[in-house]
Amino acid sequence: MQESAGPVHVAVIMDGNGRWARERGLPRGKGHEAGADSVRAVVRACRDHGVRYLTLYAFSVENWKRPRSEVHGLMQLLRRFMDKEEHLLHEQQIRLRIMGRLEDLPKAVQKKLTRVMEDTAHYDAGQLILALSYGARTEIATAARRIAEKVRARKIDPEEIDESLFGEHLYIPDVPDPDLMIRTSGEMRLSNFMLWQLSYAELYTTPVLWPDFREKQFTEALEAYRLRDRRYGGLSTQPPKEHASC
Ligand code: FPP
Repeated sequence: MQESAGPVHVAVIMDGNGRWARERGLPRGKGHEAGADSVRAVVRACRDHGVRYLTLYAFSVENWKRPRSEVHGLMQLLRRFMDKEEHLLHEQQIRLRIMGRLEDLPKAVQKKLTRVMEDTAHYDAGQLILALSYGARTEIATAARRIAEKVRARKIDPEEIDESLFGEHLYIPDVPDPDLMIRTSGEMRLSNFMLWQLSYAELYTTPVLWPDFREKQFTEALEAYRLRDRRYGGLSTQPPKEHASC
């Protein structure tokens, strides 16, 4: 089987923190803490594997329904993570971006994230995109509203609305669509994550719980991706079987 190039953009649904903690008789917060260690490991691994964009589903619009104590713990963890790991972004020249309703987050977290985004905005070795208070349906509905407002203001003619123009009104339009979407903990759902952008992504699921997902597991996911035959609805790019080399 011919191997393709590695993915440029990897998106991850980090699932299984709660189960990881429960298996150890620990509170859920400990699972999220261990999950933050996996975030650090995967961010580091991206550089070694040539992954330029890493998008992590860190908090969905639905996650606000969790108990207040868990939401509070996650917000604190996010802040602590930024305090501890900001140097990693500077060392590796990685730009931090947020995708989602930043305005929903506690003011102190917004302030911290905004400051780190500004301080890393000029880096171009890679991008770490955190999906926070993110929901794909919210993103798509927001894009539709922004386009409708421009139509009303006669800045856009309805005839001009196509996939490309629509995509330009999503949260971070300059980022290429993910090539690979990884979901941990064995679930087979998209959970309202990047529904527009994942149209042609390769999907990879693993039973490994997120806190156990480290560089080794990330490398395995990238190896599986390289063996995929991406067709985008067209014909195979692989040689026919009788000519195929191993
Ligand atoms: C899903 O696991 C995970 C989350 C809702 C939160 C993800 C957060 C982290 C990995 C921690 C920190 C992140 C950053 C960016 C520093 P779950 O709690 O739904 O697990 P379960 O399905 O086993 O209960």
